[in-house]
Amino acid sequence: MITIDNSGCRAFADEKQIAEWTGKAIEGFNTLEGGKAPGSDFLGWNHLPSSITPEILDGYKDVASRWKNKNINLVVVIGIGGSYLGAKAAISALSHNFAVNLDSSAPQVVFAGMTLSEDYLAELMDLMERRNVAAVVISKSGTTTEPAIAFRIIKQYIETKYGAEEAASRIVAVTDKARGALKTLATAEGYTTFVIEDNIGGRYSVLTPVGLLPILLAGFDIDAMVRGAQDMEKACGTASAENPAIQYAALRNMLYAQGKKNEILVNYNPKLVYVSEWWKQLYGESEGKDGKGIFPASVTNTTDLHSMGQYIQEGERTLFETVISVARCDRNLSVPADKENLDGLNFLTGKRIEECNDSAMKATVMAHIDGGVPQIGISIEKLDAYNLGGLFYFFEKACGISGYVLGVNPFNQPGVEAYKKNMFALLGKPGYEELAEQLKNR
Ligand code: PA5
Repeated sequence: MITIDNSGCRAFADEKQIAEWTGKAIEGFNTLEGGKAPGSDFLGWNHLPSSITPEILDGYKDVASRWKNKNINLVVVIGIGGSYLGAKAAISALSHNFAVNLDSSAPQVVFAGMTLSEDYLAELMDLMERRNVAAVVISKSGTTTEPAIAFRIIKQYIETKYGAEEAASRIVAVTDKARGALKTLATAEGYTTFVIEDNIGGRYSVLTPVGLLPILLAGFDIDAMVRGAQDMEKACGTASAENPAIQYAALRNMLYAQGKKNEILVNYNPKLVYVSEWWKQLYGESEGKDGKGIFPASVTNTTDLHSMGQYIQEGERTLFETVISVARCDRNLSVPADKENLDGLNFLTGKRIEECNDSAMKATVMAHIDGGVPQIGISIEKLDAYNLGGLFYFFEKACGISGYVLGVNPFNQPGVEAYKKNMFALLGKPGYEELAEQLKNR
């Protein structure tokens, strides 16, 4: 399902070093599975795939079929961070490049609440004006400001357009089972509500209703996605050097210890841009603390070879790259012959575009190794719901292991609070008067 290639690290580490770090990652795996280390009250994601039953998925399918009966053609999903990026990543990866669903009757799924841009929300209203609208509002805490603002606006819009009673059947909430303003509001309004379990943090929640419900509503196969995650749970379930999550966690920590402090996740398919965004949150929020942590960045090639390529080849030597490659592309498009050959490209005649892309990838990997940038390869079989489910779980598992190898709690995010307090003070939230005064003086 997933293969890790460490050959691009061989110029930077010998067998003995790789084996030593594999041993540390096995210890990290045991720490994770032992469930006693800091953060172990947030391990609900770890054996989640195998606990997902058809009945759980039926609950989401029921919403999809109710909304289909209403001919809903626009679903606005409201959330931020872990309550946004997983669904966005999956929908972007599985959609046609030029239409969310070129030949499907599934509604268009768009996102809100992950930005405070006034333009964005106002233009979303323009779209809503022309569509038959429903909304999914997602917030584990139920108190996050960005989605709360967006939801207030979208809720009022839907109520005005369809009436309060009908609005209640067009809004679904995904939130905590008991706490938070969103839970209170959802109960008062009678919304269908799905629960995010206490022991699953936002960035580990893509395989809960947080991710699966929007992915299903966009018309994609969540049964296959869950199967892929379940198979990956098994593949990543042993304390051994064959476990791909252990292999990845070992290599990245080994490189970090050598001063390679920045990891660039590289893809060769623009559909994967948001998988990289999801991965950046997962690793950045899990590891960046206590003055430590690999800085997660990303590029999409070959596009970014023409912008970031120079730096990666010759800039500060603190980088390593993790390259995601997809073994099988189902489309088939080749370079045509041209009698005149004025562009000099006839040497490519008959070659598939994918072969050109693959050669670009191999050429880049070798050039970057020569330039002092170690390479980790991650290959998946195909870009589909099954393999994506596996990839999500694989990255989560490797992240939990990796955080423990690094010596941090991979499941908290104390640093995220700092900006929130300042923002509340600047916006005049009651209780923040003293901080507001201090900030004004600054
Ligand atoms: O990973 C996390 O915990 C965060 O990114 C949260 O998902 C994000 O802050 C949104 O929080 P909430 O779902 O409580 O609105």
